[in-house]
Amino acid sequence: RRSKQQRALQIYALARDFYRALLSRDVGAKAVEYLAGRNLSETVRETFQLGYAPEGWDNLTKFLTAKGISVDELVKLGLAQSKAPGRCYDRFRNRIIFPIWDPQGRVVGFGGRTMGDDLPKYLNSPEGEYFNKGQLLYGLHLARRGIREQGYAVLMEGYVDVVSTYQHGVTNAVASLGTAFTREQGKLLMNYTHQVVIAYDSDSAGVKAAVRAAEILQELGGQVRIATIPEGKDPDEFIQKYGQPGWADVIKNAVSLIQFKLLQAVKQYGLREKKKILLEVLPNLAAVASPLELEEAIQQTATVLQVNWETVLAEVKKFKRNSR
Ligand code: GTP
Ligand code: MN
Ligand code: MN
Ligand code: MN
Ligand code: MN
Repeated sequence: RRSKQQRALQIYALARDFYRALLSRDVGAKAVEYLAGRNLSETVRETFQLGYAPEGWDNLTKFLTAKGISVDELVKLGLAQSKAPGRCYDRFRNRIIFPIWDPQGRVVGFGGRTMGDDLPKYLNSPEGEYFNKGQLLYGLHLARRGIREQGYAVLMEGYVDVVSTYQHGVTNAVASLGTAFTREQGKLLMNYTHQVVIAYDSDSAGVKAAVRAAEILQELGGQVRIATIPEGKDPDEFIQKYGQPGWADVIKNAVSLIQFKLLQAVKQYGLREKKKILLEVLPNLAAVASPLELEEAIQQTATVLQVNWETVLAEVKKFKRNSR
């Protein structure tokens, strides 16, 4: 068992090295150009072990089978796809490769980004024995130190967000690999810190997913704030434009889940729809266990709705009675 796992990890490491090496060869020139066009430095390319999967059907397969790895193993590990018994083709072709690590920094899969407009934009390793997207956080092994030093983690959506913000000095960020943050990812993060700032993309999918992630983290005992990235950007686009000082403001301006939901509801319904806005946050208010935090949340709600705090408290009490 153990040696089977070690062999799998060795194969992933070999694949990573293969993809990586191609960035400094002629075939990788357009990948380097793509990364340069996105302003990603050679330093972060190295830190994040980025690579390039070349065009052609069997470059990786040839490389690894020449090292004594069977087609069967390649298919099982999700590096190749089978077309007939004993024959297969590379899963990743003509894509930028982002190795994905477990928390110990061992490669357990890959994400591959197209350099053009073809779909899917990202192709990941298939779910399997070693790669479970919902149980991993991208960049965690690199962020552990930053999380410890800064006392909190930042949760982002994507590979590029983590890599690009790292380049600008944000060393405490991890990504959920898309918007569907899971309980398992939450538990994993709670092993490192209970303080989390969620910095998802500021599109409607990101806003929705941020609320969901915050609820999961709070259920797990996390202290969560949600950041809003201005101008509809994602962390990468934002930090490229506004740098570290802009980022510091984004973190400073992050708000509680209740405040975030209030602001979203005001945007959606308009300030006159007080009842609708209140309904959005009543379940959250009712769930606040600490009296001190409840007072603060009630004040915030009253301020946004421009009503007395006693009114909000009465609504919370009524909600609690009715939901019993
Ligand atoms: P980049 O800046 O190039 O990453 O594009 P983007 O900012 O538009 O990426 P987006 O916000 O759409 O995606 C964030 C993350 O979601 C990515 O890093 C991926 O992990 C994941 N994701 C996005 N698109 C796909 C897809 O087509 N398939 C899969 N499996 N994951 C995706
Ligand atoms: Mn997108
Ligand atoms: Mn997005
Ligand atoms: Mn982006
Ligand atoms: Mn994005």
